Amino acid sequence: MSLLAFPSRIRARVLCDLPLAPLTTWRIGGPAQYLVHATSLRDVADTVAACRSANLPLYVLGGGSNLLVGDDGVTGVVLSLHAMKKMQAFGNKVHVEAGASLGALVTRCNQAGIGGPHGLAGIPGTLGGALAMNAGGRYAEIADFVERVVWLNPQGELESLYREEIAFGYRRSGLRFGVVIEAVLAGHRARPEELVAKSREIMKEKLAVQPYQEFSAGCCFQNPMGGSAGRLIELAGCKGMSVGGAQVSEKHGNFIVNRGNARAQEVLELMRQVTLRVQQAQGVLLKPEVQMWPARDVLANAA
Ligand code: EPU
Repeated sequence: MSLLAFPSRIRARVLCDLPLAPLTTWRIGGPAQYLVHATSLRDVADTVAACRSANLPLYVLGGGSNLLVGDDGVTGVVLSLHAMKKMQAFGNKVHVEAGASLGALVTRCNQAGIGGPHGLAGIPGTLGGALAMNAGGRYAEIADFVERVVWLNPQGELESLYREEIAFGYRRSGLRFGVVIEAVLAGHRARPEELVAKSREIMKEKLAVQPYQEFSAGCCFQNPMGGSAGRLIELAGCKGMSVGGAQVSEKHGNFIVNRGNARAQEVLELMRQVTLRVQQAQGVLLKPEVQMWPARDVLANAA
């Protein structure tokens, strides 16, 4: 099957040459050759099978909130699970589909008196994206609450994994390749009013130190062991540095903001300059936290 024959194999809605920039929080990047809107496990499985059999690159789009799409876009298939966002709370647990936003998840857990996920307040993205890279912040990371995850592994097999079977690390996860479908998360029983108040407090803290209103992808670099990338970037005098429309935020050194029409190339050049300066000033090599497309697609390490 050629790439041109791809849409005929899929029941889900397939869009061609769709600009990805509006689907990312950075508002940067070129189009996807094909964008598939999955509404069911079957759509996801069909898409993965078609891509595997034709050796087409497959990328999974979550909230687009930790993602730099290249200026030329992506050849191959981008799979969106945004329509798969059902959630059901029971006892101290919640069953949630991959396309649900973390914001909606936090709200639902708070209302249902499920404590723990309230610590994820203010973190953007979807459950699937959060699990694929173990999203988190100072108060919690998604791995803390995982009981079970159902996914299509890189070999295209439907698999259910318990937390102990998934290698989670700092912004790392054994679910990086493959497609997360749904998960059961577990917290502890707590009073809804308390959870809502705690989430509000965390949001307030974030708004005070992060450029929340601007187009960005959150933190660009991983924190080095025991340190803060934002602080190192500030100490290296990088705040306010810019390349074209991309600028290191004046508010938080680890954020690069799109001041309007920034191109991916400009962001990459700015990241290169920041990395160099921090290495020269502090001898620390910063590693990117943001994901970049095109890169290794999600089927790339299949056997
Ligand atoms: N700091 C500076 N200058 C700066 C930024 C920070 O001196 O420009 C200092 C702060 O004053 C603080 C320390 O560095 O003493 C840590 O900063 P902050 O509290 O802002 O947290 P962070 O380590 O920079 C992490 C996550 C964020 C998450 C926050 C709060 C990473 C890479 N970043 O940031 O996550 O929101 O904690 O929970 O782990 C993201 O992953 O995209 C992200 C934004």
